Amino acid sequence: MNRMLITGGAGFIGSNFVHHVIDNTEYHVTVLDALTYAGNQSSIESILGDRAVFVHGNICDSKLVDRLIAETDVVVHFAAESHNDNSLNDPRPFVDTNIVGTFTLIEAARRHGTRFHHISTDEVYGDLELDDPGRFTESSPYNPSSPYSSTKAGSDLLVRAWVRSFGLQATLSNCSNNYGPFQHIEKFIPRQITNVLSGIRPKLYGTGNNVRDWIHADDHSAAVLRIVERGAIGETYLIGADGEKSNLEVLQIILDGMGQPSDSFDFVTDRPGHDLRYAIDSTKLRTDLEWQPRYTSFAEGIAATIDWYTEHRTWWENDKQSVEEFYSAQGQ
Ligand code: NAD
Ligand code: TYD
Repeated sequence: MNRMLITGGAGFIGSNFVHHVIDNTEYHVTVLDALTYAGNQSSIESILGDRAVFVHGNICDSKLVDRLIAETDVVVHFAAESHNDNSLNDPRPFVDTNIVGTFTLIEAARRHGTRFHHISTDEVYGDLELDDPGRFTESSPYNPSSPYSSTKAGSDLLVRAWVRSFGLQATLSNCSNNYGPFQHIEKFIPRQITNVLSGIRPKLYGTGNNVRDWIHADDHSAAVLRIVERGAIGETYLIGADGEKSNLEVLQIILDGMGQPSDSFDFVTDRPGHDLRYAIDSTKLRTDLEWQPRYTSFAEGIAATIDWYTEHRTWWENDKQSVEEFYSAQGQ
């Protein structure tokens, strides 16, 4: 029996990964999650049982982490403070969870010689110009812009150093922007979908020309599983699905999919330090580990995501008012 510890498994990408692992492998899974505002145990409730257990706890709790890692074969580490806008408002939890939490996990993994996979973001590389023909690769220099991306960059560097100095059996992946079910409604795509469903006009920061490289969360999960099973120790893999779109283009697809006029949104105050463009070159993952994305139509993926939020109002409705109050306090 192979046992996998998944941190942050009640969050957006972590919960999608837990479902993916239960559906596609034989692993027995332990989810460790602090259930912050971003965690929702109901996202994985349906699969808890014989093969999946939930532990409510913090990745900074070294005693708990040591006990859980002593009992596991592989750790997949998703837990993080993940939202740029929150990091600009209050950076402290980002330093605690993203840096100290990752440190706590890798110390336990090295004590027990446990295989470790670290989940990270393309935002550690900073941003690209809108007209730059280049994309990020595994050798792009680190140049993070925000408290969120700088603490993720710090956590990546800790993992890399633990591989080199202590022989930690780790791999890393840096993925582009994810979309799909179970994403907190503070994030761009679910915020706009739930705005329309709540009779609120969608909100676009600045010019709307900033570009993100979108990937469905299930494609991210399949890539992570492939790296856990076949990745080379010490290596970093970039995960992306050639999904570059401006925020305005994404919003137009959402408005069209929800039967709204194309001008039914507001431009609002831009994010301070707003990264212009992210773009991933995932050749290494595709060539070395033979991974391919399954979601080739962004419009179809968005249509399914709109359906999911429409059919799961109780999952997000209680958060809507406080999320919108947070944004409107900063003119967004
Ligand atoms: P999320 O905010 O939806 O979920 C984070 C989860 O971690 C929540 O369940 C939360 O309760 C838990 N958590 C937070 N602090 C914790 C702590 N101290 N101890 C235990 N659990 C804690 O985040 P997400 O969007 O699912 O992102 C997951 C990972 O993927 C992060 O590492 C993020 O940097 C990375 N990532 C995200 C994206 C994206 O588009 N969302 C893209 C690339 C990489
Ligand atoms: P977000 O989902 O916060 O992800 P990230 O900051 O990690 O890229 O934002 C995606 C893009 O959408 C980013 O360019 C900021 C923009 N955005 C808006 O235009 N309006 C919004 O209401 C939000 C939340 C984000």
